Amino acid sequence: MQAHAQHPNLWLVDHPLIQHKLSVLRERTTPSSDFRRLLGEIAGLMTYEVSRRFETEPVEIHTPMERMLARRLRCAPTLVPVLRAGLGMTDGILALFTEARVGHIGIRRDERTAQPEEYYLRLPPDVQDGPVLVVDPMLATGGSAARAVDEVKRTGARDISVVCLVVVPEGLAAMQAAHPDVRVYAAALDRCLNERFFICPGLGDAGDRCFGT
Ligand code: PRP
Repeated sequence: MQAHAQHPNLWLVDHPLIQHKLSVLRERTTPSSDFRRLLGEIAGLMTYEVSRRFETEPVEIHTPMERMLARRLRCAPTLVPVLRAGLGMTDGILALFTEARVGHIGIRRDERTAQPEEYYLRLPPDVQDGPVLVVDPMLATGGSAARAVDEVKRTGARDISVVCLVVVPEGLAAMQAAHPDVRVYAAALDRCLNERFFICPGLGDAGDRCFGT
């Protein structure tokens, strides 16, 4: 897997199965129940690529045949869903990383200015010991993700990735300026933001679609 040719911080996970599920999730008639299920499924499928760089360490095990030196993950990741929509991705990733810990950060965009407003933060202790995945389906202006990464970095964590479904060049540029050391994984690179800072073509408001608000 390589960084995107035009966006050095973007890692596109565009597997055919992910593209298929994303096309159903984007469709405006898709009900909340299917939207939630697909969000979790896509996040789980993306985890395979997102975790490719995770460190492993040797461990001695006994197979039914003999002893051997196998490899296990050195440290389970910490997931940090950005409330609310990031919650929709969390279970799909936890299904694969059953030992992962979960921190929560509540951030909402001001509807007029699109500036992020933080309203909740609870991170597990020792976040800095392993990889951290900040999860949020959408990277629009990038303000929410940049704020979430600010908070995670305050703990001393350095191995941080942002995992999204759809991103736009504007948000990638903002993340590159604020956190050039952080990789952004996405299932799709969309065209642009509209005048209300919504992603086009996008998938609508993921939080509202996920929770039926
Ligand atoms: C959406 C989305 C991201 C943010 C992206 O959340 O889930 O968190 O906007 O926008 P940005 O890149 O411009 O910061 P929203 O503020 O709608 O909150 P919600 O999930 O509670 O609906």
